[in-house]
Amino acid sequence: MIVRTYKYTCHAVRICIYLLMVLSPVIASGEENELNILYTGSVSGELEPCGCTRKSESGGVARRAGYIDGHANELSPFVLVDAGNFTDKDTPQGRLKAEAMLNAFSLMQYDAVAFMNNEKGFSPGFLESLVKKLSVPVVAEDPLFRRSLSIRGKGIDINITADERDYQEGRLNILLTDRPLSGLSSLKGWDVIILSSGEILDKPVKINGSVVVSGYPEGKKLGILTLQINNKGKVSDFEHRWQTLDKDIMEDKDVRRVLKEYDMMVAGLSDNKKPPSGKTTYAGVSECGKCHQPFVETWQRTRHANAFLSLKQRGKSSDPECLKCHTVGFGEEGGFYSIATTPELADVQCEVCHGQGRDHLSDYSTPLPPVTEATCRKCHTKSNSPDFNYPVYLEKIKHE
Ligand code: HEC
Ligand code: HEC
Ligand code: HEC
Ligand code: HEC
Repeated sequence: MIVRTYKYTCHAVRICIYLLMVLSPVIASGEENELNILYTGSVSGELEPCGCTRKSESGGVARRAGYIDGHANELSPFVLVDAGNFTDKDTPQGRLKAEAMLNAFSLMQYDAVAFMNNEKGFSPGFLESLVKKLSVPVVAEDPLFRRSLSIRGKGIDINITADERDYQEGRLNILLTDRPLSGLSSLKGWDVIILSSGEILDKPVKINGSVVVSGYPEGKKLGILTLQINNKGKVSDFEHRWQTLDKDIMEDKDVRRVLKEYDMMVAGLSDNKKPPSGKTTYAGVSECGKCHQPFVETWQRTRHANAFLSLKQRGKSSDPECLKCHTVGFGEEGGFYSIATTPELADVQCEVCHGQGRDHLSDYSTPLPPVTEATCRKCHTKSNSPDFNYPVYLEKIKHE
């Protein structure tokens, strides 16, 4: 109706220009489609952050799922992809992680998940059977899997592949690869390339006409690439943002359940088993207390004395990856093994800093090795203790 009214006055040039201005965005949006690509890559088995400090508190699959679920309407239409290297190593715990990760992908309904170097490191058949059981849409160069997947949404014909030979004419081509940024010059024609090389790209870069992004290491952030697609199915423009996954994001309950099961299975790896050697070679704080009671009392006021409780509160009191820094000598023969078998070696005790003290017990003139900054750095690493500053931290644990 409005258009017709203007038609009669179109001889007035000014109105014609006005009409063009009003209608042109309408015409343009009729031709353009918007598509969000939600992507991860090089998550390396990080199911959730350790929570050692606030700075290392971002990420995790339960929050990722919660975010996507809570914003599905505003993100639509979208495709959700992982560019690979989502697993850790092929160890008993690494296998449990891989299963939990694939379970989470399945719950989040990933559109495509690539197998890269880390996944190739697993013994043949292990991941394949999980992928089948959980129906995860895997793409890989490996002939056991599909080379590519086609998705048709909102009139956009998409090809997602992990195989560089599988470019398909006339479609929106997305390549998932763990090549480094410096190794992309031979690739041509791809509309979007998503890396799982572990490199951090703050913003997308354009290489040979392709829009290149890279999954944030350890899944600390979710990448969101918004594409404008023209009527030829090609990218005419794009925007990008990182979605941080901090504490304020509501976790998805089903994915949290997967993580709980994972924790229980990890605990099962050591439960009811005897330590490899029956004897502890560390004395434990109660022995030291027989002669150094005042030191024990000051130590008890430091957070080191509650390090095991911190794990317990997070359901991680049997997780080897946490125990190595939150107990005495975990992983060494004669060190902490489990809370059932070696309760006297829980927490960050005296011998973590002063060294094994058995000889000193029988002859206290036997000197103990000096405590240095390197002693602390074994546990106060960049990622677990980003604010570590030797003099400042030393002051906080002083005991005399
Ligand atoms: C490399 C050593 C290391 C590993 C591995 C480690 N932690 Fe920690 N953790 C630390 C250190 C160091 C701190 C204290 C950091 C600080 O305050 O600077 C800490 C602190 C914590 C805290 C206390 C946070 C607070 O503010 O009260 C929790 C909880 C915690 N870690 C949980 C875990 C869990 C769960 C794991 C395993 C998934 C884990 N840690 C693995 C070294 C480690
Ligand atoms: C039987 C009593 C006794 C016990 C048990 C004992 N100490 Fe000592 N410790 C001493 C005495 C006495 C000294 C002072 C020796 C000296 O000055 O020659 C000492 C000195 C030290 C020193 C400072 C000297 C040095 O060599 O660095 C440290 C540190 C120390 N003890 C740590 C420990 C730890 C850790 C434990 C538990 C594993 C422990 N002690 C158990 C009696 C004991
Ligand atoms: C065996 C691992 C380990 C070693 C070695 C270690 N720490 Fe820690 N430290 C921890 C853990 C784990 C925590 C966190 C405990 C918790 O709250 O659960 C911690 C917490 C602390 C805190 C409390 C941080 C805060 O902000 O309140 C200080 C301070 C600290 N350590 C200082 C030191 C210093 C100094 C050294 C070396 C002389 C040292 N630590 C050696 C594991 C270690
Ligand atoms: C986080 C590391 C850490 C822990 C845990 C720790 N100490 Fe120490 N301790 C030190 C440092 C650092 C010093 C002072 C520097 C030095 O003399 O090596 C020290 C000094 C001492 C001294 C005095 C040494 C002297 O020359 O006067 C004794 C004794 C001692 N500690 C015993 C203990 C006992 C007992 C415990 C357990 C209850 C304990 N320490 C836990 C790091 C630690």
